[in-house]
Amino acid sequence: MQNNKIIIFDTTLRDGEQSPGASMNIEEKVAVALQLERLGVDVIEAGFAASSEGDFESISQISKQVKTSTICSLSRCVESDILRAKDSLQYAKKSRIHLFLATSPIHMEYKLKKKPNEVLELAIRSITMAKEFCDDIQFSCEDACRSDIGFLKEISLGAIEAGAKTLNMPDTVGYRLPHEIGNIIEELYKVVQDRAILSVHCHNDLGQAVSNSIYGIMKGARQVECTINGLGERAGNCALEEVVMILKTRKDIFTQYGGLDTNIHTKEIYRTSNLVSDITGIRPQPNKAIVGKNAFSHESGIHQDGILKHRETYEIMTPSDIGIMNNENLVLGKHSGRAAFKDKIEQLGYQLESSMLNQIFEKFKILCDQKKVVYDEDLLALISEQNSYIPQVFTLESIQCSTSSNGSHVAALSVKRDNELFNDCALGNGSVDSILRAIERVCNIGGKLLDYKVESVTRGKDAMANVMVKVDFAESGSPVIGHGKDLDTLHATAKAYINALNSFERMKKFLGPKNSYKQGV
Ligand code: KIV
Ligand code: ZN
Repeated sequence: MQNNKIIIFDTTLRDGEQSPGASMNIEEKVAVALQLERLGVDVIEAGFAASSEGDFESISQISKQVKTSTICSLSRCVESDILRAKDSLQYAKKSRIHLFLATSPIHMEYKLKKKPNEVLELAIRSITMAKEFCDDIQFSCEDACRSDIGFLKEISLGAIEAGAKTLNMPDTVGYRLPHEIGNIIEELYKVVQDRAILSVHCHNDLGQAVSNSIYGIMKGARQVECTINGLGERAGNCALEEVVMILKTRKDIFTQYGGLDTNIHTKEIYRTSNLVSDITGIRPQPNKAIVGKNAFSHESGIHQDGILKHRETYEIMTPSDIGIMNNENLVLGKHSGRAAFKDKIEQLGYQLESSMLNQIFEKFKILCDQKKVVYDEDLLALISEQNSYIPQVFTLESIQCSTSSNGSHVAALSVKRDNELFNDCALGNGSVDSILRAIERVCNIGGKLLDYKVESVTRGKDAMANVMVKVDFAESGSPVIGHGKDLDTLHATAKAYINALNSFERMKKFLGPKNSYKQGV
């Protein structure tokens, strides 16, 4: 059997981004990639270079900034795709080209319109070409789990011969059950042995993605492809946090398989999950394993009583294992000095430049005057607001809203663009409507609001509001997400809309149809 390290291959930025409405801009992708690196992910699939200018640019930026994880680009078995992948990865300290080609009878006949021998020949030719530019080549048999096992063995051996180091076997349509994935990997392991790493990539259409991946591991796979929060097309992909916590929590089982382990720093899981859900606007369901809001809360009296008597009566993991802080942690008070504040920020895992630290400290002081209790989450909210990933073309300078019982709502605001101040006001059918209309007048743009959500950052009547908006400004079908946090929900709404507008300004450069790789080769 191969070694006992399970390689974590994260595809949140590629397969995860194919989730409807989960598209991210370049700065957001860089922020996620840097957090994935902090989490200890071995391979980050940063995108599909040939699919769009935006994907190419984000792979390139991520390659420049990430130092320890391998950066990977997806590529069809097409010469021009391979060249784009190579160019996008030129700055990566460690790079990987991920080639894929369908191998199931249904995909070969109807999508590719190729015979198995043509598919084999194309795979070998493409791997040989990619190998000239990059030593680390991964080959995926798309729809592997509905492919003929004899053909999978033949193409795997050909791929190894041509230079592939990792062979990935996706359950592209999420059709298989755990023992079936186990059998496929077991059969392949007999011929591949340790000449290449076998990898699993499971979709969740029947809710089996995590179990399927675990069975694959038990039968010899040493790489798991997964996404944060299980993000992905349709029912999503295998959730990184679940696989990692299964391996950690059930060490007793995995000692039989050589004591399997990952490089993941589990205390970074919660923060990574929050970052991805903040950016995409897609929150995991409350009862989602590991990162759902209720994953560690015990409502029933019997459970609470048991936990108080002996934690392990009802808890198999602790919230702190995945980096959830104690909500009751009162951070600092209004009399706390800069040094204590800096110390606290460092404890939360941030190393900020002094100008950024000072700006957040000023906001913290204001917050202390407005709010009775300041929690760690409040500090994180201030940091995330200040640490915006996107250039601030528009900034909200001031806002005034008034409503009256006769149903009239008016908002007046000032917005700065390139150091010039613009003022305007608007009437609306409700406060939110009047604010958004006023922003659109002042910024001279129209947008369609697709989604609007408010949640509180912490508990308490005086908690900050976190507003998320999803807006389609160009009617282009490429909506952007914006976030705003403030003690006042309406002010948070205005900030969120302006934030979405800034995202849109950034995205305009790369607007254009994405090439769909699902067209086949
Ligand atoms: O699900 C799939 O088959 C894929 C491949 C492109 C690896 O995502
Ligand atoms: Zn996939």
